[in-house]
Amino acid sequence: WERPDGRPFRQRLLVVANRLPVSAVRRSEESWSLEISAGGLVTALLGVKEFEARWIGWAGVNVPDEAGQRALTKALAEKKCIPVFLDEDIVHQYYNGYCNNILWPLFHYIGLPQEDRLATTRSFQSQFAAYKKANQMFADVVNQHYEEGDVVWCHDYHLMFLPKCLKDYNSQMKVGWFLHTPFPSSEIHRTLPSRSELLHAVLAADLVGFHTYDYARHFVSACTRILGLEGTPEGVEDQGRLTRVAAFPIGIDSDRFIRALEVPQVQEHIRELKERFAGRKVMLGVDRLDMIKGIPQKILAFEKFLEENPTWRDKVVLVQIAVPTRTDVPEYQKLTSQVHEIVGRINGRFGTLSAVPIHHLDRSLDFHGLCALYAVTDIALVTSLRDGMNLVSYEFVACQDSKKGVLILSEFAGAAQSLGAGAILVNPWNITEVAASIGQALNMSAEEREKRHRHNFVHVTTHTAQEWAETFVRYDVSLCNQILFPPDN
Ligand code: ADP
Ligand code: G6P
Repeated sequence: WERPDGRPFRQRLLVVANRLPVSAVRRSEESWSLEISAGGLVTALLGVKEFEARWIGWAGVNVPDEAGQRALTKALAEKKCIPVFLDEDIVHQYYNGYCNNILWPLFHYIGLPQEDRLATTRSFQSQFAAYKKANQMFADVVNQHYEEGDVVWCHDYHLMFLPKCLKDYNSQMKVGWFLHTPFPSSEIHRTLPSRSELLHAVLAADLVGFHTYDYARHFVSACTRILGLEGTPEGVEDQGRLTRVAAFPIGIDSDRFIRALEVPQVQEHIRELKERFAGRKVMLGVDRLDMIKGIPQKILAFEKFLEENPTWRDKVVLVQIAVPTRTDVPEYQKLTSQVHEIVGRINGRFGTLSAVPIHHLDRSLDFHGLCALYAVTDIALVTSLRDGMNLVSYEFVACQDSKKGVLILSEFAGAAQSLGAGAILVNPWNITEVAASIGQALNMSAEEREKRHRHNFVHVTTHTAQEWAETFVRYDVSLCNQILFPPDN
């Protein structure tokens, strides 16, 4: 990317997301430690390197006192992060409430739980007000740090109001918005009481992006059906102003995973894991402990497989790493108990004194531990009931160039559109089908595995996070250049 006079130029980018790439843990009044946050958004954005980027977001912690805020701001500045401080009430209503109890289940086609429906309906207005207030707080921080020529890239369902807030501040600001979840059919979006306000607010952006063409199409048809606006091949038009809408499938920093496999500590870990699971095929699930990931369905399918294939019972193990997430939301607490109950029952049923069929860990693994586990896996099981993309499937493929294991992948994950030809696609609701696919994967010939892996490996290593970000940010490059380098410059 060059300036008109040929000198290289690094675009300044303000990345705005609810979650910063690091979460803060308070050690003492003025001392903080920072840990990498989990989730696909963070993973992908950490893979984006070729911009002069600042990250604006919430550090996942309530900091009521000014001294603490000052100290945390300083610690985050070293990571090029700028905090937005949200108080407990806002977090409760905006993050736990509107974002994770309303938008998240709705965008993933999961209805509200029966007992929550009325309560949520009653608290809807106050939660939506908190959502707008929180978005305004993010906009205030962006505005303080914005410099002419910056591209402001807003991320995800937490910040659908942000493009409007930013354009209200400065209509010349270049604003993009990207959704990391599915955008549901307009029939689903139609049920949101705030449906029109949200769509209008997103349309204030210059460019709106989704992981897949289907999500983009759903968004455009929601604008047409709900707002009566015209959809064009380029996007959505409102009173002569065009908001561009397009699909930008995300990727990972595949080189980082491939390189990690060479690290001596990872190789040592791989040796240990091979020893521990010797004589058994390793099946792996890595997920946030979220209702969209289909973890109970995955485990029940594994149980069915064991039931129907007694000869495999002592020759296969399922390792499920499930990092707890959004633990203040009741639905997530219920899911944790449900998963524990099912795992306990199946281990009781098929376990022996020396081995259990399921190793379930409620925690996050560090990067090297995760890479080692991916590398020794024979079959990865991704059974999301809906998923924007699912980067775990990409990470698994990146780490499998020597083993060439099999990916069993839900057809409801965005990744099914990119890795479908190499994976075994399944409907996670159909436990019989998933159980049969485990059998198919275990019995697959080496040639077939090689062919499928090659397809996916080429995709994962060529469609990277960096390429994704460049495509998005440069999409409006002609417009950006006019602002960055006005003709008389
Ligand atoms: P989501 O964004 O919904 O969490 P993705 O599959 O796209 O789903 O991304 C999840 C990211 O979080 C991946 O980078 C994955 O490595 C990481 N992750 C998920 N669970 C764990 C875990 N238990 N330990 C470590 N990392 C995890
Ligand atoms: C998904 C969302 C991200 C979110 C992540 C982790 O990937 O798309 O926006 O950051 O889950 O969830 P959390 O609520 O912990 O940020």
